[in-house]
Amino acid sequence: RRLSYVLGIETSCDDTGIAIVDTDGRVHSNVLYSQQEFHTRYGGIIPPRAQDLHRARIEDAYNRCLVEADLRPEQLTAIAVTNRPGLPLSLLVGLRFARHLARKLQKPLLPVHHMEAHALQARMENISAISFPFLCLLISGGHCQLALVRGPGRLTLLGQTLDDAPGEAFDKIARRLRLYVLPQYRAWNGGQAIEHAAQSAVCPDAYDFPLPLAQQRNCNFSFAGIKNNSFRAIRARERLEQTPPDGIISNYNDFCAGLLQAVSRHLMHRTQRALEYCLRPENGLFGDASPTLVVSGGVANNDVIYRNIEHLAGQYNCRSYRPFKRYCSDNGVMIAWHGIEQLLANSAQHLRFDYHNIDIQ
Ligand code: KG4
Ligand code: ZN
Repeated sequence: RRLSYVLGIETSCDDTGIAIVDTDGRVHSNVLYSQQEFHTRYGGIIPPRAQDLHRARIEDAYNRCLVEADLRPEQLTAIAVTNRPGLPLSLLVGLRFARHLARKLQKPLLPVHHMEAHALQARMENISAISFPFLCLLISGGHCQLALVRGPGRLTLLGQTLDDAPGEAFDKIARRLRLYVLPQYRAWNGGQAIEHAAQSAVCPDAYDFPLPLAQQRNCNFSFAGIKNNSFRAIRARERLEQTPPDGIISNYNDFCAGLLQAVSRHLMHRTQRALEYCLRPENGLFGDASPTLVVSGGVANNDVIYRNIEHLAGQYNCRSYRPFKRYCSDNGVMIAWHGIEQLLANSAQHLRFDYHNIDIQ
């Protein structure tokens, strides 16, 4: 059997990722340039700056990727690239580079939906255990979705966030809390910083958070309430302690633990509804089998959140999976793997050489 190699390019947000993966799920190289530190310094992502950084590094990422894989470009079967959703300026850098490569090498170009790539990534490591269809909880900096995954290009949305994504809430709250004044958190994203700070909590119930959409009988999410509640609580605490403008409240560890618990509880509450929906025989989804649950996206890195979801799924006799941590957050591997999935599903049968018809959407 001949192996196929797919080169994947990811530039939807602030990570420049290029990787090569084969049909057996082996990663031959994985180059990732993060812009995190740069954007933290400026209080958030500035799209034109993100675009400049992608431009400055993409060529180098590609060259390193081939060297590390010890492959010649002619050996690639196809080029996969994120073409949606994301920051348009960032997406364009990856797409233009991918088009140029595909044309030069005369290889097909496979467009990849970024969230679908997150959803399928766990299969790269566990293809025999995670068969289609499965239930997926997608939690990242831009999205929060529960979806039934039947294959590449075949996702059915059960619910999604009505406002913020959980990672976005973590990032904004970490910034408001000024966690970045602590040197150990400077190079981290908000979610990581909050997870770490929460580990040293003394009194995790010191702050009260609402359970969002408690009365709604659907699978949607909302994080705006938790976020605004956080801003109010931090402000009140700062007043009480007369925290200086560049300072941080004294019990920030307790605050972070409470916040993490609140986000966890909301995610569990909605996932429980989705599991019950999947298990209802009249919906004819899984027959007598238990659905498999996959948690993915950057927030799936969080051990507190993942353990809670795993425990919940266990109560329904469902197995849970998440990608290896290094592949939970944005990277080129998941884009390359989605390309492989397209080849495996034959959905790339009409391998696309119509480069100019593939655009950001
Ligand atoms: O999937 P991802 O890398 O990019 C998007 O597609 O959005 O997710 C990034 C998000 C960030 O908002 C970050 O705060 C969050 O994932 N994140 C975490 C953790 N690591 C990253 N959230 C909670 N706990 C973590 N350990
Ligand atoms: Zn992502």
